[in-house]
Amino acid sequence: MCGIAGIVAHEDITAKLVDSIRNLEYRGYDSCGVALMNGSGVISVSKNVGAVDEVSEKENFLKMSGNIGIAHTRWATHGNVTKANSHPHSSGNKAFTITHNGIVSNHDNLRTELGKKGYKFKSGTDTEVIVHLIDDQFKKLGSVESAFVNAMRKLEGTYAIAMITAHDKGKIYCSRMESPLLLGVGSDANYVGSDFNAFINYTKSAVFLEDGEYAIVTHENHVVKKIATGKTVERDVQELQWDLEMAQKGGFPHYMLKEIYEQPQIVHRALDIDGAEIREMAKAAINQKNFFITGVGTTFYVAQIGQYYFSNYAGITPMVISSDEFRFLAQVDSKSLVLAISQSGETYDTLSALRHAKARKAKTAAIINVMGSSMARMVDHLVLQGSGPEICVISTKAALAQMIVLARIALEAGVMRKHITAKEAKTKEKELRKLPNAIDKLLNEQSAFIHAIAKKQSNIRHWLFLGRGRYYPVARESALKMKEVSYVHAEGMPSGFLKHGTIALIDDDLNSVVFTPTEDEKDLFKLTLSSAEEIRARNGYVLGIRFKTKLKQKLPFSDEIVLPKTPSFIAPFLQVVVAHLLSYFTATTLKRNIDRPRALAKSVTVE
Ligand code: F6R
Repeated sequence: MCGIAGIVAHEDITAKLVDSIRNLEYRGYDSCGVALMNGSGVISVSKNVGAVDEVSEKENFLKMSGNIGIAHTRWATHGNVTKANSHPHSSGNKAFTITHNGIVSNHDNLRTELGKKGYKFKSGTDTEVIVHLIDDQFKKLGSVESAFVNAMRKLEGTYAIAMITAHDKGKIYCSRMESPLLLGVGSDANYVGSDFNAFINYTKSAVFLEDGEYAIVTHENHVVKKIATGKTVERDVQELQWDLEMAQKGGFPHYMLKEIYEQPQIVHRALDIDGAEIREMAKAAINQKNFFITGVGTTFYVAQIGQYYFSNYAGITPMVISSDEFRFLAQVDSKSLVLAISQSGETYDTLSALRHAKARKAKTAAIINVMGSSMARMVDHLVLQGSGPEICVISTKAALAQMIVLARIALEAGVMRKHITAKEAKTKEKELRKLPNAIDKLLNEQSAFIHAIAKKQSNIRHWLFLGRGRYYPVARESALKMKEVSYVHAEGMPSGFLKHGTIALIDDDLNSVVFTPTEDEKDLFKLTLSSAEEIRARNGYVLGIRFKTKLKQKLPFSDEIVLPKTPSFIAPFLQVVVAHLLSYFTATTLKRNIDRPRALAKSVTVE
């Protein structure tokens, strides 16, 4: 949520800085701005409402100049989307300019105190309060570093801040508290970013800041210190494993489609994660009296799929709680393991759930895509899923990889608990190994057909996604995909639930999708079909996503997407990919903003 970039160099950095925030746009894109300074110490700020290219053209970003600068791309959380509220924000005398992510919870009190001292506010943001506070501290202390640190000590809430100042020309000051920030170490310049995309074009060497730390960065070096004590911290430089090419579209019209097509390879990677890591996680899960899995949005549904795999193959039912509700519901203690699922590793709600768990002495674990992220660094047990950068705001490949990792952990736990035999687990693992090819075949052979169905049904405004057993969370996740990328209303529910009320909605303007189990899953198969029949009996449209059967009779579907006979262990995963394509093609037919749907951000780092 919101992206910060900063560069300090010898030479002009304007174009590099604009590129940096363009690469961060997936974090937020309702407004943006840059602040640049050169040797004279004059800071020029330019900003406005709109995406980077649009504002850059309107405000002539590329005509500015400077060898040190900070920039921001915003997804509004505090104050409306207006030019005045866009970042960077400057002190009244323009000597200090900052960008900020996060939410300062005591901004009202600080604003009142600063107001009494004569500070005037041009925006409704908490960020402007911070920059005035730094200015106020500088007037008292006369040192930039002391002013910056003292101001940080007065802030409550969350922040990642980057600052340049006319009083200390060659330096970027930055700090972090529960909002991601890292440094990039280059050969002739240094960088600051809310994630590595800010500087991956220029360097792959990074230094991760921890909560409660600040850094001072010049073009030649950097120093990291503790906000509370001012003591210097030794921190290693780490080499990032991703490069820009991996993050580019590679010929696909949208990142979403590219990432859907990357899934065979991503599943391979999830299957190649070292067995020892999977075993350690399984051991951690079964060694504790209480086992919780948490995530939010898509990762909540991933956790729900995991819950069914644990129940079906390990004989335990973990408690699955959406991370935004975690602290209001979860009774965790020192006998609990809390496993968080997160692509970014920075989602505020999920971080809060982990903090809640840690504060109560529970063990923590995570399955995460982004190496070095906050969650990755705070948990006792970690599996890095290795899915590569996911640029589309909508999560596809990362979520599928997490499902695979959870299925693997469930199998290990099942063997450890003697709920299944090692031989049974081996058979299931072999089935998982068939998934990449099955997905590949589906993408190559069924995409055009799924596209045609999506086109034909694109005038429908309401969808019900139904499934039972392990197919129920698949239905919920698929409904979320449809909503967020196509802006079409969709609801996911257990198909058995339908007759308890929702069936009253069946009419011409509501389509249903039924995620049909394999024929081998006899009860589930029969029960799911009877829900489809209930809808057909009321003349409702039903799209069946099903596998080939030996049955002669026609199944109760208006249209169907028929997948080859597939082992039931991997069947739900294949249907997830069908749903990705269905929502993608519905959204392209409706001409939606695929990679950056309205009102969404890739990494939601606010409460
Ligand atoms: C949906 C989506 C979101 C995220 C959620 C958690 O496609 O991407 O629902 O799944 O915001 O994000 P992470 O996984 O980064 O914790």
